[in-house]
Amino acid sequence: MGFLCSLLLLWGCTLLFSDALYKDLWDEEEEQKLGFCDWKCMMFVQSWPGSFCVFLGKRFNCVIPLSINDWIIHGLWPSGVRECCNCWHLFRSDLQGLESQLSLHWPSLINQTSFLFWQNEWHKHGSCAGCIETLSSTSKYFGTALKLHTLYSLDSAFQRAGIVPSCDRSYPYKTLSRILLSAFRVTPDLQCAMDEKGREVLVQVKISLYRNFSAGCEDFQGASDPSGSPYRPCRENANIYYFPINRKTPRDPCP
Ligand SMILES: *[C@@H]1O[C@H](CO)[C@@H](O)[C@H](O)[C@H]1NC(C)=O
Ligand SMILES: *[C@@H]1O[C@H](CO)[C@@H](O)[C@H](O)[C@H]1NC(C)=O
Repeated sequence: MGFLCSLLLLWGCTLLFSDALYKDLWDEEEEQKLGFCDWKCMMFVQSWPGSFCVFLGKRFNCVIPLSINDWIIHGLWPSGVRECCNCWHLFRSDLQGLESQLSLHWPSLINQTSFLFWQNEWHKHGSCAGCIETLSSTSKYFGTALKLHTLYSLDSAFQRAGIVPSCDRSYPYKTLSRILLSAFRVTPDLQCAMDEKGREVLVQVKISLYRNFSAGCEDFQGASDPSGSPYRPCRENANIYYFPINRKTPRDPCP
């Protein structure tokens, strides 16, 4: 029996090896593209509406609806893969029963419908998630993101620790990361951008999850943001601004 196992192992290794060799020989131009299901981690990304509009391009209008007062979902992104299947469409009827929750927790803040935002996220990222059973349909994907938003609630983590949005007060990076570490047992990726007044502003938080949704997965394949994004990891020696939501002047919440 042991012999059979090692034989099988050896056979598996040979297959792997020849596969790698094959790729080296023939796929030189196509740089290491991951297969649909090869991803190991996924990023659960949440945005802060109070600062979202500050760094938004002028070609968009920014509107923060009255109903939006909390951190919102930006997306659930399997790492290192993108646009896995553009033949798999998202229809409104797929989201029956989820739409009101999605509008509240995964809204578009620009002059583009939330549904269009969901469609884009689905095509870019959701279609790559479908190879695990828990995410194998449009409604499972969006429903799971809503559950993660409750599970990894930045609102409650910050509120419990007395971290409140403010124009005047800033928080040391170490304080914020320690609070999230104790809430989620991992340190998420805090993302910032610098505003025109030179303030380091918290805009987004990325939590890296294993396929079973526990946090702490390490995989740097999907670490970088789409090119053109002004977001980057917050500077660890900085004091960080957590701007309040300002519906009147969302691009300049703290003049
Ligand atoms: C959104 O608003 C901007 C700025 O007002 C405008 O230029 C753009 O055409 C609008 N886009 C859509 C899709 O309505
Ligand atoms: C989730 O998966 C990771 C990696 O496979 C594993 O280390 C961890 O124990 C799992 N967590 C749970 C709750 O099953």
